[in-house]
Amino acid sequence: MQEQLREAAEQARTAIAACQTNNDILNAKARYLGKKSLVNSLYGKLKDIPPEDKPAFGQAINELRAGIEKLLAERELELKDRLQEEQDAAQAQDLSLPGNFRPRGSLHPLTIIRRRIEDIFMGLGFEIAEGPDIDDEFHNFDALNTPPDHPSRNLADTFYLENGCLLRTQTSTVQVRVMEKYPPPIHIISPGRCYRNDKPDPSHSPVFHQLEALVVDKGVSMADLKDTLQNFAQIMFGEDVRSRIRPHFFPFTEPSAEMDISCVSCQGKGCRVCKNSGWLELGGAGMVDPAVFKMLGIDPEIYSGYALGFGVERIAMLKYNIPDMRILFENDVRMLRQFSGEVL
Ligand code: DAH
Repeated sequence: MQEQLREAAEQARTAIAACQTNNDILNAKARYLGKKSLVNSLYGKLKDIPPEDKPAFGQAINELRAGIEKLLAERELELKDRLQEEQDAAQAQDLSLPGNFRPRGSLHPLTIIRRRIEDIFMGLGFEIAEGPDIDDEFHNFDALNTPPDHPSRNLADTFYLENGCLLRTQTSTVQVRVMEKYPPPIHIISPGRCYRNDKPDPSHSPVFHQLEALVVDKGVSMADLKDTLQNFAQIMFGEDVRSRIRPHFFPFTEPSAEMDISCVSCQGKGCRVCKNSGWLELGGAGMVDPAVFKMLGIDPEIYSGYALGFGVERIAMLKYNIPDMRILFENDVRMLRQFSGEVL
């Protein structure tokens, strides 16, 4: 009997050691511990054993069973470890191979410049206000004191929609929206897209960006306007830049002016960029016309204000030496790639 047990143990040990898969383990379990297994049949033989030998025999079968269970568990673990190792090896990377190259995107130069301008004005105490690209004639023209016979209202200049609204021709619309909604003091800038029926050429695009600034408070004068302009110009283009305003006309400002800065290409000496004048035109400005204030319920006897607006493309072109505005909209990756290091 002892001999039989030892033989059974030996057989099980060899078979279990030969198991290579989980399935082999399951089969071995059934074979050596299951209903029809040798171990089970040995339990059946207990009844034929003389009573005095029964305890020793019973214990021997239990030990055999426990031994087989242990062997199976150990082998199962070994196989699991081996599988894991194989999987790890399959996934292991060869660190000497070149890495996966992920091209880095870049901000568009207009975005970089717009954010830079916003940053400068925020530093000067302005907040950012936004308005819709599609607006009505009231906000784009009437409230800005622009009469129905003004040329900019012409179908040939402005994109009208069938419902009577239009694609805003200027960000000055946002001045109106802010003054409608908030009482003075107001210090806002509003950057955004504008649309005009212009044929694309080196200095025109039917879609372009403006940035408008508006200040309404007690005792605001043209000196404040000039100060803001000069501050902005120096932070944007450098300490040596000078600025000036020239008389002009805009329906919604009185007096109105155009803003110039000294040419950033020749420092005012005169060159091709400034057409030998030494100055570059930046945009329009002026003191808010009392008629605009009255229309929007602000008392011009108490408050005064200035407004200014300029093109973001123009600044980007000056800053980055871009000769043709269309380059900013064609988005040739060779151009965009040059800005990949710039973040703001
Ligand atoms: N909106 C004007 C334009 O598109 C620019 C401008 C002029 C804005 C005078 C102003 C301003 O706020 O006061 O030509």
